Amino acid sequence: AFRERVFSGVQPTGNLHLGNYLGAIKRFVALQDTFECIYCVVDMHAITQAPSVWGGPAELARSTREVTAAFLAAGIDPDRHIVFNQSQVGEHAELAWVFNCVARMGWLNRMTQFKEKAGKHRENASVGLFAYPTLMAADILVYKATHVPVGEDQKQHLELTRDIAQKFNTDFADSIRRVTGADALFPLTEPVIQGPATRVMSLRDGSKKMSKSDPSDYSRINLTDDADTIAQKIRKAKTDPEPLPSEEAGLDGRPEADNLVGIYAALADSTRADVLAEFGGAQFSTFKAALVDLAVAKLAPIAAEMRRLTADPGHIDRVLRTGADRARAIAAPIMAEVKQVVGF
Ligand code: ADP
Ligand code: NA
Repeated sequence: AFRERVFSGVQPTGNLHLGNYLGAIKRFVALQDTFECIYCVVDMHAITQAPSVWGGPAELARSTREVTAAFLAAGIDPDRHIVFNQSQVGEHAELAWVFNCVARMGWLNRMTQFKEKAGKHRENASVGLFAYPTLMAADILVYKATHVPVGEDQKQHLELTRDIAQKFNTDFADSIRRVTGADALFPLTEPVIQGPATRVMSLRDGSKKMSKSDPSDYSRINLTDDADTIAQKIRKAKTDPEPLPSEEAGLDGRPEADNLVGIYAALADSTRADVLAEFGGAQFSTFKAALVDLAVAKLAPIAAEMRRLTADPGHIDRVLRTGADRARAIAAPIMAEVKQVVGF
């Protein structure tokens, strides 16, 4: 009953990295032929942390354009699909409030991302950081999106999104039937967590996720890194002394090797098994040289296109404005339905 529609978002919080690209943006591009896609720069999520984290107003605007440029440079087509920033479509915040009243404190208390981001000083975390997952549920369901491509770290938030949809559908079942004639207002959205790089790890520490906030610059490859920087970071990446195994099972207990092989596979649109069929028995020096060539070949054109696009902020702003108008045209009637169902 629900139209097959993809929604996903990326925060404008500086340093877009290889994990964001392989776990999310590259996947966004791949879904364009099969789905109607809505891709969002989630600036309202960015401000859930301290201004020192997202850099303040001027940096937020710059970073919003940069993520937009990354979407376009990676191959998202804003004419066929929708690209916009969250704060420009008020329905996200409006539905988030309704979901704040549907979600239970106990559900949000279990969210591991909140625990990680709030750290030891939970009393000082913003209420917005705690409620982040209800806004995320609203981002998705205000379009009745059926599929959400994300990295593995977002799996728990997607489960919560389904719980919220389910509870709303149940709590308001009679009203939904009266207003729409259907049994459910919201779909139970499917996460799309696919490919060999759903969780890219730090290049310095195989037990930590590659992240925007890691203080070590050598822990991640940024999408804006030049060829020399990419080469240096890969050459310095932590490994173990063994040569590469020839089968996937041989990667068990070798997180750094597993990570580099996964990165190679994702960049090559291949699989770990195929990469190991080619490089099994090779030393890391050989494999890293091949990975440098591949990473530079795939990432340098994206970086160059990002530079070209960010030089013309007027163009990016027009893309975002058009996208917001088209997003609103989908969200507004759905929000109107929600209001009727709730009794507003
Ligand atoms: P970050 O987690 O870097 O702060 P976002 O929260 O904006 O960035 O995440 C944007 C997308 O990138 C999400 O779908 C997230 O799951 C994905 N992502 C983030 N880090 C990684 C990673 N290390 N590996 C794979 N995907 C990731
Ligand atoms: Na994330």
